[in-house]
Amino acid sequence: MSKEVNEAVSSFLEDVLEGLKAQHKYLPSKYFYDEVGDGLFRQIMHMEEYYLTRKELEIFEREKQQILEVLGRDQPFRIIELGAGDGLKTKVLLRYFQEQKTDFTYTPVDISGNVLEILGDNLKSEIPNLKFDPYEGDYFDALSQISDSHEREVIFFLGSNVGNFPKEEAVSFLFGLRQFLKPNDLLFMGIDLKKDPSKILAAYNDKEGITTNFNLNLLDRINKELNGDFNRELFLHYPYYNPHTGECKSYLISKEDQSIRVGDEIIPISAWEAIFMEISKKYNETQILELAEDTGFKPVASFYDNEKWYADIVWEVKS
Ligand code: AVI
Repeated sequence: MSKEVNEAVSSFLEDVLEGLKAQHKYLPSKYFYDEVGDGLFRQIMHMEEYYLTRKELEIFEREKQQILEVLGRDQPFRIIELGAGDGLKTKVLLRYFQEQKTDFTYTPVDISGNVLEILGDNLKSEIPNLKFDPYEGDYFDALSQISDSHEREVIFFLGSNVGNFPKEEAVSFLFGLRQFLKPNDLLFMGIDLKKDPSKILAAYNDKEGITTNFNLNLLDRINKELNGDFNRELFLHYPYYNPHTGECKSYLISKEDQSIRVGDEIIPISAWEAIFMEISKKYNETQILELAEDTGFKPVASFYDNEKWYADIVWEVKS
């Protein structure tokens, strides 16, 4: 095993054991995304109940001209997309910007070189002559390497990924991001909004059970990579939306008393004990303004789908 792979495995193991030994058990949702998890997430994005992708796509298709006006068509800029994935939605904007003869470079950032390669091949054939300059690695590493004092940088953080942080972590993440940017740089971010709670809950509790599998896949991944012995049949997926906090939280609940081996450790789990898996936080407009204020940004534009279920905001770095 290479040194990097070894280090990745040992921090995965540490994080998993820390979570399973906590008083309220949890597993970090960033580990959902192995190859199987990526595939399940792609299926989620196409589900009827999972409106988020559809709404963001609707916004891009309808508002692409306005979005380009706000990003500034008269000066060259670099789009740095954090967690680009398959670029399904971003392509709508990239294609339009290119047709408009905008001078821009597209830098998707992802920890998976494989994801970037597939995206690159795809973009080469779909949007010829796109200036494509990917970065393989961690978000903050990418920003420290790429940041440049000449051209405007526009950070894309789409898909309501910000919702996967609890509020305080979202603040420290965005504040951290802000430190790599200069006045006049922009953040373009997708945020899922508070709405009818039943619509939100359904998005994380689909009838086909794809989201259940998405959560259970992390147990399979622990079995494969960390010598674990989780039995996925002994857990049930329980998502819960709290309309006060806007937090949709997913849990896996143990159906019986059991002992789980992970690495060399044995962890007891009681019947009906919960493992907290993921938070998907929803915001309202006032909270979005507060988030900008708390993290050193000035809101410059907001775009919504026609039901106002979802927002894409543009914030400028405050000097
Ligand atoms: C990636 N992220 C924004 C998704 C979300 O909506 O929180 C992950 C997800 N989890 C279950 N379904 C989708």
